[in-house]
Amino acid sequence: MTDMITPRAMGTDRARHDAVAKVTGTAPYAADHEQAERVHLHPVQATIARGRIAGIDTSAAEALDGVILTLTHLDAPRLASSDDTEMLILQSDEVAFRGQLIGAVVARTSETAREAASLVKVTYEEQPVDATLSAERDDLYAPDEVNAGHETDTASGDVDAAFEAAEVRLEQTYTTPMEHNNPMEPHTTVALWQEEHLTLWDSIQGAHTARSALAPLLGLEPEQLRVLAPFVGGGFGSKGKPHSHEVLAAMAAMRLPGLSVSFCVTRQQMFTLTGYRTPTISRVRLGSDRQGRLSAISHDVVEQSARLYEFAEQTAAPTRTMYAAPHRRTTHRLATLDVPVPFWMRAPGECPGMHALEVAMDELAIACELDPIELRVRNDTAIHPDTGLPFTHRDLVGCLREGARRFGWADRDPRPGRREGDWFVGTGVAASTYPALMMTGNVARVTYDGDRYRVEIGATDIGTGTWTALAQIAADALECPVEDVDLRIGDSDLPTGSLAGGSTGISSWGTTVVTAARAFREEHGRTPAAGATTQAEQPESDLTERFAPHSFGAQFAEVRVHAETGEVRVPRMLGVFSVGRIINPRTAHSQLTGAMVMGLSMALHEHSVLDERWAHVVNHDLAGYHVAAHADVADIEAVWLDETDEHINPMGSRGVGEIGIVGASAAVANATYHATGIRVRELPLTPDLFL
Ligand code: MOS
Repeated sequence: MTDMITPRAMGTDRARHDAVAKVTGTAPYAADHEQAERVHLHPVQATIARGRIAGIDTSAAEALDGVILTLTHLDAPRLASSDDTEMLILQSDEVAFRGQLIGAVVARTSETAREAASLVKVTYEEQPVDATLSAERDDLYAPDEVNAGHETDTASGDVDAAFEAAEVRLEQTYTTPMEHNNPMEPHTTVALWQEEHLTLWDSIQGAHTARSALAPLLGLEPEQLRVLAPFVGGGFGSKGKPHSHEVLAAMAAMRLPGLSVSFCVTRQQMFTLTGYRTPTISRVRLGSDRQGRLSAISHDVVEQSARLYEFAEQTAAPTRTMYAAPHRRTTHRLATLDVPVPFWMRAPGECPGMHALEVAMDELAIACELDPIELRVRNDTAIHPDTGLPFTHRDLVGCLREGARRFGWADRDPRPGRREGDWFVGTGVAASTYPALMMTGNVARVTYDGDRYRVEIGATDIGTGTWTALAQIAADALECPVEDVDLRIGDSDLPTGSLAGGSTGISSWGTTVVTAARAFREEHGRTPAAGATTQAEQPESDLTERFAPHSFGAQFAEVRVHAETGEVRVPRMLGVFSVGRIINPRTAHSQLTGAMVMGLSMALHEHSVLDERWAHVVNHDLAGYHVAAHADVADIEAVWLDETDEHINPMGSRGVGEIGIVGASAAVANATYHATGIRVRELPLTPDLFL
């Protein structure tokens, strides 16, 4: 058991620390800070998907009044070599995807920069484009590992034989499309080079993450680069690392000392430059006895990666965690295509993988003539099926039972096709899981100024509530009122903070803040002198050697499918989550329901349509790429089980950023089957699929 802190502020509802600043527009986002003389960068992007730049002529751009600088591969600064090849822009004449950054114009106004960029003449030597993902390709390969360091393949027992011998067999292929993160604030970087120091005001999920990626690339010592990100308007993973736009802004700034070079990535540019969820093809086989007890589970995934840089989504990873079965297998295979580089999108891996697994479980329940909740309960496991380790706390069954009670599941007629007027009406359920991990290497500092406690750590608030929840943790660790805590985050000049990603933020930073607070009390007592200060490092943890730390949940949806038009509406969603102690009910509720809305959006709308001839996303803006709007969202509720995880960290909490999206789309898809009797195994659930 971990040495816990006593909850006083933790668990209480508190308005956001930054609420007034945000709603009055005074919270400074990357483009908003008071900056030295502002100039504007507009990029030149490749208009072919593969080949070489034969010629690039910037003379017309340079002739435009107000243009200060142009950059191309012919005159750009040299970057240090890097494994992150996505970042190595303007270093050669090669083009690896359509939209890749191949030049820049900096001008006095953004309009001039944009106009001038359009005047840069580029000729190419083009090569044939290969942008077609298919499970039948003969050049699929196994990467060394998949995202987050997961194994590419796992196997135990003899899954093929067990599947063949099973009384009930389900074998289907499920697909999820290419999807793009669309945070409210597009990616933005303002770069200022002054006295051999570079400052970046950046929309990024981790100031230190950005600094450690960018400083070596630009040939700078870490002390020469400061990254500021006090407020970030959403990221969902797309700001989990710097991308090439930060590099381009920095390159231009270092040519223009004293000028703040502003690169506000446009919504359209985000569809090529800042990552996306790779499309996935999941072949799932489930074998069970007639009572629904699984004997065989296999999940074989095919997905795309980019020629420029390998990114392998860990789509089958959740299938390793969910259900007990003696014979199991998971695999990942990649197709290397001439496409932009995929990256993280909220719950990478778990989100598309659980869509496949949880629709398959619904199909198996029907094949076994079993309630889908009962099927999941029968296959619950107290130990992680692959590692044999106990979970720190697993209450999937509690989530399913509580959800069933609240949702009114007991009254459900399992037969599909109930009709009310012009609408088919149905309900569906799916399970959720997300790992509860911690980053390492955090440092926090506590200082008493004679009146209040300053708590400093390079954490980030990407709209999630870090400003508020971390102050609550600090207050409880210091045993003082929250009002006496002056939290400082979002700056690489602060003690090292890890990324706001992978739902690890509050666990990682909170543990470190608690460590620093305890060390402060040890050193300075309960009545410290003004100026007393203590800095402490995050303690090492062997948790994952002893336990499998995961959160769980159950998602419920009610849908209506129009009999004539096929339109799908979702009048009701309920999520019940087992996530340890809730630090702040208000911000946690917002995280969970926000993620469920994102899952609803995935279910009904989100689809980046790739024209394979040009490897170009044709619906590259919010007019064509639909995300759920208010009119899509009816009654969405998220609740949690009252629990404390006694093993995980001194707060007893697990992350809540991502689990809310996991399984949400499967619950909606399963409900559309219950409504119509039509099983759709692809996303999104567009009207044509129900006609
Ligand atoms: Mo999350 S996709 O790890 O920011």
